[in-house]
Amino acid sequence: MTNKLKYFVGNWKMFGDFSSIKIINQINQFCSNFKKKGIKSKVIVCVPHTLIYPFVTKLKNKLVTIGAQNCHHHNGVGAFTGSINSSMIRKSGARYIILGHSENRSSGDTNKLINKKIDASLREKLNVIFCIGENLHHKREGKTFSVLRKQINSSIDKKFNLNRIIIAYEPIWSIGTGKVPKTNELIKIFKFIKDEYKRNFKLKRFPIVLYGGSVNDTNIQQFSLIPEIDGFLIGGASQSSKKFIDIIKNYYK
Ligand code: PGA
Repeated sequence: MTNKLKYFVGNWKMFGDFSSIKIINQINQFCSNFKKKGIKSKVIVCVPHTLIYPFVTKLKNKLVTIGAQNCHHHNGVGAFTGSINSSMIRKSGARYIILGHSENRSSGDTNKLINKKIDASLREKLNVIFCIGENLHHKREGKTFSVLRKQINSSIDKKFNLNRIIIAYEPIWSIGTGKVPKTNELIKIFKFIKDEYKRNFKLKRFPIVLYGGSVNDTNIQQFSLIPEIDGFLIGGASQSSKKFIDIIKNYYK
């Protein structure tokens, strides 16, 4: 079992209401037992904006950190009906934010817009979970590395506080499909992302890189054999406390 800090991040997407605090409480209880065993893991659940404040205020010992999913790119107030900015999110109590998710990219988020959102979020001292990933077409054409390189280099600025950015590699063809990359592919891609990022931004250490896409309590054991993976971004399976907890348990089995 590894002693390196590992991240387990839930992405609830458009799921949950006030009563869903019970899911968070169960995960929180599990984390407290886990902590006693000396296992180093960071558990974050990114919920819809409406649930951030009620969850943050109701959560007891706060072993689960609450995060958000997306924000508007504009930093201040403005005529953006239906939108919410990074400052509002921070003031609601979130500490993390998912940006660049493929579901948001497919509804208009460009690399440039994502760059502005990252900037706006870092200004509010939010930790950014920055999603990148190729689609099936890119993969078949052998363009995975060039797509990832472009996503990274056009959304991240050298002047950003890079300590606050976590990358989540999520191949689009894997999200919600039950399909996951092969172990040897993942090792190559994680090495590529880490090397590219470290070299490009002249970092002293490798960045934290998570894997996301159809993670479940069974395939997690295959992923646990890959030390380059620093944690997981878990969508569908994070909407059930049992499934989410089983993923963490099985990772350390
Ligand atoms: P999934 O979603 O685990 O349901 O595939 C992952 C994500 O969208 O972050």
